[in-house]
Amino acid sequence: MHCKYSILLGVALMTYHILQITARVEFTNLKCVSLDKTFSDFEYCQIKAVNRSYKYFELKIQLFKVPVSNVTVNVALMKRLNGYKPFLYNVTFDACKFIKSTNKNPVINYFYGFLSKHSNINHTCPFNNDLLVDKVSIEFVNYQVVKVLPFPEGDYAVFTNWYAYDINRADVRLYLTLA
Ligand SMILES: *[C@@H]1O[C@H](CO)[C@@H](O)[C@H](O)[C@H]1NC(C)=O
Ligand SMILES: *[C@@H]1O[C@H](CO)[C@@H](O)[C@H](O)[C@H]1NC(C)=O
Ligand SMILES: *[C@@H]1O[C@H](CO)[C@@H](O)[C@H](O)[C@H]1NC(C)=O
Ligand SMILES: *[C@@H]1O[C@H](CO)[C@@H](O)[C@H](O)[C@H]1NC(C)=O
Repeated sequence: MHCKYSILLGVALMTYHILQITARVEFTNLKCVSLDKTFSDFEYCQIKAVNRSYKYFELKIQLFKVPVSNVTVNVALMKRLNGYKPFLYNVTFDACKFIKSTNKNPVINYFYGFLSKHSNINHTCPFNNDLLVDKVSIEFVNYQVVKVLPFPEGDYAVFTNWYAYDINRADVRLYLTLA
């Protein structure tokens, strides 16, 4: 084989192995703001580091006016350049329709994939109970952003806004770094 190509192949294989064994994702911050405390509020919203290899985020939101049967969500992916700038995705959708739908929008479904297996939001409307997102680990997020849909390295944020009956009730932002 031509020398230049075998070096390239070597680098490619090495990169592949590095990607296989190291998590490229770090959570840098999680911010939850209730915009209407008569409607809902956060009981907790945090990143936890159990040890060097096990880190996760979790949050719980209490709903004070149940049942909630009208939910709209905006999800915007941001990438830091000079400040955080919109990057690739900014979607707004009717959450009740989305959850019921059998033919789900793939972009929304990708974001939903971060939560669906770790949350009690995974059921059809209405929502009658407090909502919680339980222990979404670095390993899981790493899998989603490295294997499922590979992203270039950088500082990212996922800005989400949660509307009920067309009123913005909560702002949740997850910041992460991809090395
Ligand atoms: C980190 O904590 C998790 C959960 O308690 C445990 O299963 C794992 O073995 C720990 N890893 C190390 C390296 O201590
Ligand atoms: C996403 O798009 C909506 C509608 O165009 C806009 O109002 C909002 O500011 C955008 N979000 C971000 C974070 O840029
Ligand atoms: C939502 O929950 C149901 C029942 O627990 C499960 O069968 C389904 O796979 C979940 N959906 C996703 C996308 O995880
Ligand atoms: C949700 O609530 C808003 C405000 O009451 C209303 O305008 C809108 O039509 C409702 N959406 C659905 C899908 O019922």
